[in-house]
Amino acid sequence: MDGATQAAPLSADLVQVEETILGGTTARRNETVIARGAGCWLYDTAGRGYLDLTSSQGIAMLGHSHPALSAAIAEQAQTLIACPNFLYNDQRARFAGKLAGVLPPHLQHLFLANSGAEAIDGAIKFARLTTGRTRMIAFRSSFHGRTVGALSLTWEKKYREPFQPLLDVIHLPYNDLAKVEAALDDTIAAVFVEPVQGEGGVNIGEIDFLQGLQQLCRERGALLVIDEIQTGFGRTGTWFGFEHAGLQPDIICLAKGLGGGFPMGAFAYTDAVQAKLYPGAHGSTFGGNPLAAAAGIAAIDTYRRDHLIERSAAMGEVLLGRLREELADVPVVREVRGLGLMVGIELRQKPGPYLKTLMEEHGVIALPAGTNVLRLLPPLIISEEEIEIGVEAIARTLGK
Ligand SMILES: Cc1ncc(COP(=O)(O)O)c(C=O)c1O
Repeated sequence: MDGATQAAPLSADLVQVEETILGGTTARRNETVIARGAGCWLYDTAGRGYLDLTSSQGIAMLGHSHPALSAAIAEQAQTLIACPNFLYNDQRARFAGKLAGVLPPHLQHLFLANSGAEAIDGAIKFARLTTGRTRMIAFRSSFHGRTVGALSLTWEKKYREPFQPLLDVIHLPYNDLAKVEAALDDTIAAVFVEPVQGEGGVNIGEIDFLQGLQQLCRERGALLVIDEIQTGFGRTGTWFGFEHAGLQPDIICLAKGLGGGFPMGAFAYTDAVQAKLYPGAHGSTFGGNPLAAAAGIAAIDTYRRDHLIERSAAMGEVLLGRLREELADVPVVREVRGLGLMVGIELRQKPGPYLKTLMEEHGVIALPAGTNVLRLLPPLIISEEEIEIGVEAIARTLGK
């Protein structure tokens, strides 16, 4: 069939196509078909706007179709899209320098990939190479992705169990240092931890726990790998979540906000890890491609120029404060918690039905997390007026 000669399909047809061809792994929330985005808003094929309090799963940190990002991608698309990774490239080099510039001085080596799970898988390999050990520690309620390596670290049994045997990972309770102290022996290559668990329920890592992990790793020869895929690039009000605990991790994994919404992943590591590498130790055909590099440069420039990291801290306080005020007496709400613009509303019930009402009746999109948490990851550009629209809609939906 010649697609160019067909009439534009109706939304129902598009839903049918997605279900028939792409169905099976992803449950869609409803039959809305999103066609356009601008700022904090997504628009469906009928033109209805939705306030996206998820940054499209934590990636569109600059909002949708940010002019600086769109312009950089368009310009690069007309200049060079593909470059073999065995040749040097101007944009890749500029991007590496730019990213290194926002990383701490001890994490100045990078591998460029295309997604979060890919960054985690690379970190697993480098941790094994560096330590000569194979086993890992991760935490209950963690989420690190769904490729085989990353899945081994992810806690949720329904994601993991059908695919056993996976890599040898011990899952310990989050924020329980004594359990780590008992388990971290000389078989452990690395401890993988999110500074704030995202998918697991917006669980905030205690500073003593995170610092204790670092100390135990140092004493016992394991690497500390911080998964900053959801918390990075200002999500928690600092460039990276580990800064809240003043850590010096051996490896950090990045994705989501790295390209401001453009698909990218990366991990950064120390001189000691770098010293073990050799040509062919790892690779990626698409990683660090010129288009992604241009997007990454524009994203980092925009975070800096528009002071979006500081803005996340300030707007996060506004959002948390307003939610706590509006939800104080709402029976279904157990707790409102968060750091920067990473917020969880813990409920006494599953969030699914509320998320549907919030979107369909109030035009506001939010995420679930854990078993009973409604999660908000708004773009860092969100305004106070948009926060107000979101808070009012959430309060009405949760039954104020
Ligand atoms: C903390 C964390 N790690 C890893 C991942 C996996 O990233 P990706 O979906 O890009 O593979 C995610 C995705 O949500 C995440 O939140």
